[in-house]
Amino acid sequence: MTLQSIRYAKGNLEVLDQLLLPAQCKYLQVKTVEDGWKVINKMQVRGAPAIAIVGCLSLAVQINEEKFESKKALRQEIEGRLNYLVSSRPTAVNMKLAADDLIQFANILCDDESLTIETMKQRFITRIEDMLDRDIADNKAIGMYGEKEIISQYPKENQFRILTHCNTGSLATAGYGTALGVIRTLHSSQKLEHVYCTETRPYNQGARLTAYELVHDKIPATLIVDSMVATLMKQRRISAVVVGADRVASNGDTANKIGTYQIAVLAKHHNVPFYIAAPFTSIDMNIVSGDYIKIEERPDREMTHVGDHRIAAQGIACWNPAFDVTPADLIAGIITEKGVFRPAELATLEYH
Ligand code: MRU
Repeated sequence: MTLQSIRYAKGNLEVLDQLLLPAQCKYLQVKTVEDGWKVINKMQVRGAPAIAIVGCLSLAVQINEEKFESKKALRQEIEGRLNYLVSSRPTAVNMKLAADDLIQFANILCDDESLTIETMKQRFITRIEDMLDRDIADNKAIGMYGEKEIISQYPKENQFRILTHCNTGSLATAGYGTALGVIRTLHSSQKLEHVYCTETRPYNQGARLTAYELVHDKIPATLIVDSMVATLMKQRRISAVVVGADRVASNGDTANKIGTYQIAVLAKHHNVPFYIAAPFTSIDMNIVSGDYIKIEERPDREMTHVGDHRIAAQGIACWNPAFDVTPADLIAGIITEKGVFRPAELATLEYH
């Protein structure tokens, strides 16, 4: 069984505190939207799909406990709280898209005169609960398309060596993972020779989380520090780089964890195909290029400390953008649950 970052049963939501991993495996209870906002903002839960699912489920558990005077009052609470959740972390598009979709759904339920307040509430909660199964199904499809794509690049080979960055696995999603889902699929069909994961400075999602998932799932893996990527590509014949995404612009430029861009540059230099694996909903058709993606800047402490231990010189200034944008021309393909798209194809696709 793979790791579970989100435990949910109607009225009860728990998230694995990812800041404590790998030393401690502790679940936190999320009872309200305020709790949801905090666990996301503090990065106790992180990864674009998991952020959206936990945010929306926090709303589901809160309204499940509450009584509303009217459907209109319920609708208003839903809109206000979803907009608040969107403010928890700005770069990933997933929470914003989920909020827009749910606000629209709440409007439809509100206008349907055949529904009581209670039915409206329960239908709304079910819509949120459906996100869990849908995310896992999408991730499995991403895995399948990603495997096919990588195999198609090397018709004479049947063992592949993949490099990934940050954490895109069960911990970053409802389960299975996106880029890590592609790796998982290759592993299940015995086509994965080896996976390399970067440490992912400054917050070490690779060393703390991806490495933990890979060891847990017995996938053959090696950890490298971020500055070893060029040497790795030169010496160990990497078949492909597969990473996740927080937001893909309509021209294919992709925001993902800081450090992704430099890996893509190195992949180009070493002739290694570089892929993004993400749900189709990560494509933000409202943004024409990566220049318009808001990049979150995180506290200095994430760079200067490891846990409670200071590793940087006192008094030094820090700059800590949490994401960077990889230009579309460095990307070989965007692997989604609907298939693999070349960056230039995105603008011609029908929106969701
Ligand atoms: O800051 P984080 O840990 O939330 O950043 C996570 C990433 O950049 C992931 O690659 C991305 O969200 C995709 S997770 C399936």
